[in-house]
Amino acid sequence: MKNLDQIAQLGSSILRQQALSVEDVESDETHIIINRMFTILSESNGVGIAAPQIFESVCIVIIASRPSERYPSAPKMEPVVMINPEYEVLSQEIEKDWEGCLSIPEIRALVPRFVKLKITYLDCQGVVQEMIAENFIARVFQHEYDHLLGLVYLDRVENNMDIISEKEFQKMMTLKKI
Ligand code: NI
Repeated sequence: MKNLDQIAQLGSSILRQQALSVEDVESDETHIIINRMFTILSESNGVGIAAPQIFESVCIVIIASRPSERYPSAPKMEPVVMINPEYEVLSQEIEKDWEGCLSIPEIRALVPRFVKLKITYLDCQGVVQEMIAENFIARVFQHEYDHLLGLVYLDRVENNMDIISEKEFQKMMTLKKI
């Protein structure tokens, strides 16, 4: 994986801080942060990224689900930039599924997440947008939103037995395909 040194790794204090709201959505500074997030996301085969992961403690996430080596069954969508996102849980239903994180390489874990949300955010023009997110996309959002709170997905794992290596995860996925 290229550019790993540009991604904050677990242990870095910026991953444990509450990110600040973006005051000026259309500033050059905000655009530069978003562009860097896009570059690193596409180079690292991620399905989402949060600004604190590139050492910027501000409330910006990108959700960009698509099938990849890291997430073979991810649904394809147009990437969405979400500034100062908030969400409402639309169903109390919770599902456990595997997650990984560019800030915690070589590890996967089963994480319980809500399956249906209404997300409200500002787009790059500062316009309020709403999105109903379900299943994998709702999962990616909750994972990225946690980064804005200073949390990582391992904080949400219910049992240490649910944490495995990337290598074992890939083995399991290959077996499932057969
Ligand atoms: Ni992450």
